[in-house]
Parts: sequence; C-alpha cells; structure tokens
Amino acid sequence: MSVRYNKVAIVLHWTIALLIIGLILFGLLMTQEWMPNRFAIYQWHKSIGMTVLVLSLARLLWRLGHRPPPLPDAMPGWQRRASHFMHGAFYALMFAMPLLGWAMVSASDLPIPTVIYGLMTLPDMPGVSESKASAERFKFLHEIGAKLFIALIFLHVGAALKHHFTDRDDVLKRMAPWVKTRR
Ligand code: HEM
Ligand code: HEM
Repeated sequence: MSVRYNKVAIVLHWTIALLIIGLILFGLLMTQEWMPNRFAIYQWHKSIGMTVLVLSLARLLWRLGHRPPPLPDAMPGWQRRASHFMHGAFYALMFAMPLLGWAMVSASDLPIPTVIYGLMTLPDMPGVSESKASAERFKFLHEIGAKLFIALIFLHVGAALKHHFTDRDDVLKRMAPWVKTRR
C-alpha cells in the first residue's frame, strides 16, 4: 500500500492551503481603514473564497473515494484521534467559511455586487434575503471561523513539524514527498 497521498490529493492540499492562508492574511488587511485598494482586494477575496469552495468540494469527493495512506504503527491512539478530529474540523471550515462569506454578502444591504474575477456576478445565496441583522450575524461567524482557522493551522503545522523533526517519521512526507527523510 502507498505510504503517501497521491498527486491529486497533494495538489489539492497545497493549492487550497496557499489560497486559505492568502485569504486570511488579506482578509485581515482589507478590513483595515488604512489599506489601499480595499475595493479591489474585497473582490479578489470573494472570488478566491468561492474558488476554495469549489476546490474543497472536489477534494471532499476525492477523499470519499480514497482511503488515506496508513499512519505510522508507532503513532499513539490519542494522536490518531487528534489528527482525525483536526482534519474533520478543517473540512468543516473549508466549507463553512466560504458559505458564511457568501451568506454575508447576500444579506448585505450595501449596493455592491460580487463580481467573480470580474467575469460574472455572484447570485445571492438561495434562501438568504437582505437583512442588516443577518449580515452582521454572518459577519460575526465569519470572523470567529477565521480565528478558529488560524488556531488550527498553527496546531496542524506544529504537529507536522513535530513529526518531521522530533519523531523523525514520514508523516510530513505523506503530503510533501519532496521533503528529505530525517533518520
Ligand atoms: C476559505 C474561505 C475564506 C476565508 C479563510 C476568509 C477569511 C476572512 C478573514 C480572515 C476576514 C477578516 C475577518 C475580520 O473581519 O477580522 C474576512 C473578511 C471578509 N470576508 Fe472572507 N474568507 C473566506 C471566504 C469569503 C467569501 C467566499 C466571501 C464572499 C463571497 C467573503 C467575504 C468577506 C467579507 C465581505 C469580509 C469583510 C467583513 C467585514 O467587513 O468585516 N469571504 N474573510
Ligand atoms: C490552510 C492551511 C491548511 C489546511 C486547510 C490543511 C488541511 C489538511 C487536511 C484536511 C488534511 C487531511 C487530508 C485528508 O486526509 O484528506 C491535511 C493533511 C496534511 N497536511 Fe495540511 N493543511 C494546511 C496546511 C498545511 C501546512 C502548511 C503543512 C506543512 C507544514 C501541512 C501538512 C500536512 C500533512 C503532513 C498532512 C498529512 C498528515 C496525515 O496524513 O495525517 N498542511 N491537511
């Protein structure tokens, strides 16, 4: 059995990871008054955020049809459970964050359309009507989700680096096959 994820999983993992890290960094910057070109960055944020939704759907479908490679035998049960929980939480946020963003702009009473990559106007989310109170609620949840995402990314990266540098196993290589084995 293969000891690492296949090409599809690896390309989707790193593409989505880079896009999400960019969305978080630019999301935090674009909401600052002093930031130049805020309008353009908002449009990019919304376009890339919706792209993450589509890529996450592709990734979930791939994942449902493929078993991940087995974890190292020496890995204790609590770490296996923690890693399953962490991956589940990531999948949940990869869907929740774009959906909350879409719901937020659909409920907004500002007359600003979301034009995906300058090509097509994003329709309002079905079932969400204009309401200041709902827009505020979705915005609050989007903000909480972002904080949760940041915390999980630190834990996830910390765990990957611990496996590589302390445990010296192949867990990082499962997703980053170009990394050299450390024995
Ligand atoms: C994985 C996808 C996404 C991530 C990780 C993400 C992340 C963020 C972050 C970190 C912020 C700054 C939060 C703050 O106010 O402190 C933000 C704000 C915002 N996001 Fe997203 N976002 C995503 C998708 C979307 C999508 C798809 C839309 C809309 C279609 C959207 C619309 C917005 C808007 C309008 C704001 C500004 C809210 C405000 O005025 O305070 N986001 N996002
Ligand atoms: C926003 C950033 C990231 C997200 C949302 C994310 C999400 C995920 C998810 C959902 C999985 C489980 C794959 C599956 O079974 O379907 C995974 C695996 C993995 N990720 Fe990330 N990841 C991110 C960033 C990173 C970074 C920066 C690193 C490297 C330091 C990394 C290293 C790994 C490794 C080594 C695995 C395989 C672990 C295992 O098989 O147990 N990830 N990631």
